Amino acid sequence: MSSTNVTLTTADKSVSLPLVEGSQGPSCIDIASIYRATGHFTFDPGFAATAACKSAITFIDGEKGVLLYRGYPIEQLAAKSRFLEVAYLLLEGELPTPAQMHAFEDQVTHHTMMHESLKHFLRGFHYDAHPMAMLAATVASLSAFYHDAENPEDPAQRKLAAIRLIAKMPTLAAAIYRYSIGWPVRYPRNNLEYVDRFVHMLFEVPSEPLAINPVVTKALDLLFILHADHEQNASASTVRLVGSTGANLYASVAAGITALWGPAHGGANEAVLKMLTEIGDAKNVDKAVARAKDKESGFRLMGFGHRVYKNFDPRAKIIRGMAHEVLEKLGVQDPLLDVALKLEEAALKDDYFISHKLYPNVDFYSGIIYKALKIPTNMFTVMFAIARTAGWVSQWIEQHEMPGGRIGRPRQVYVGAKPRDYQAIDQR
Ligand code: SDX
Repeated sequence: MSSTNVTLTTADKSVSLPLVEGSQGPSCIDIASIYRATGHFTFDPGFAATAACKSAITFIDGEKGVLLYRGYPIEQLAAKSRFLEVAYLLLEGELPTPAQMHAFEDQVTHHTMMHESLKHFLRGFHYDAHPMAMLAATVASLSAFYHDAENPEDPAQRKLAAIRLIAKMPTLAAAIYRYSIGWPVRYPRNNLEYVDRFVHMLFEVPSEPLAINPVVTKALDLLFILHADHEQNASASTVRLVGSTGANLYASVAAGITALWGPAHGGANEAVLKMLTEIGDAKNVDKAVARAKDKESGFRLMGFGHRVYKNFDPRAKIIRGMAHEVLEKLGVQDPLLDVALKLEEAALKDDYFISHKLYPNVDFYSGIIYKALKIPTNMFTVMFAIARTAGWVSQWIEQHEMPGGRIGRPRQVYVGAKPRDYQAIDQR
């Protein structure tokens, strides 16, 4: 192998395949020519060892527990930035100057309203519909309202659609929550900062003004920063795959929302809280760990494990630290936090979890904080979607700006019936 290519030797051929070098992380073998050169495809279910694209947005080193947004360590952004600034960074690639931040914030602020017809749209759902179902449907419907920003080939329309989605996700999420509890929607207040505005739309009771608690908004802002993007995770890859067909950004993000919903992905935060509630008490933790190790049980420790992190998820570390502080400041005693800490302690000492390199991930502690913020469990993944919208729209725009884009269309290993002739029904 030279520094620029590798040689692949098959039964009757030897082919040289180029290496693709990034600025960080392992180089990749470019296998685009492998079928033409060898008559073979590659096989990598779940894409565990396959890079689907080049990207400059986020970098993860799973062995070292490193997460960078446009080169900035997540720990620094968590400590010093705020979500809307991180959204700008993901979208534009650089931290904004004061003037750029003001202009961006002004743009987002003036796109927060949702079309009045969307309120009637929600009424089509039963009040107890899962909020993720309502979010996916309402986001997909946005393309029916904004014909001026549907053309993925027009950079100005791409950016307008991205701003609209970043701006409207909190409005839609709050409207969905209030519909589910029978409260009238609250319109976005343009005099409030992004997360304060969301908290106001979510929680202001119809009969009295809401005193916004800065502990709540700071905790939410930090959770949004930590959930904003994460390389080519399942939902970001879904957004890219749908975007590769030429579908508009609203349709692509709606697909990403449905991908995020799964309990193996963003739906894990809701599943973690259900699991902790089911475990109920620290004395039941060892039983839960034993169940998670038993393949027959089909039970997994939700919030544990990760495709890329084989060390602590740096986001989980930050959230775990936050959990104590937020619960203390809010004067909340939650026995589930003790259960989570005991479960983490037991799992991290257990050979199975050590040998499988299973650590707490971003979803393990976030639900405990959302619960302390009085966000209902079925809204946890909606919180994740609000934050991840910044990453999804950035990835989608990057895909359209990157030259040489092609429609995503994986191959397969066919294991079905060999060719056979049709038989009339009276012959079967
Ligand atoms: C997110 O990709 C991202 O970046 C996602 C995300 C993001 O920000 O976008 O980080 C957000 O989705 C975090 C992950 C949330 N999901 C969960 O917490 C659900 C529980 N975890 C798993 O289901 C699992 O760990 C995944 C889905 C996260 C990762 O799955 P992989 O990489 O496909 O791993 P696997 O299912 O092949 O498991 C490898 C082994 C298996 O054992 P063996 O058959 O090899 O003996 O580890 C075991 C699994 O049984 N295992 C677990 C486990 N997770 C994996 N065993 C018990 N409990 C678990 N949680």
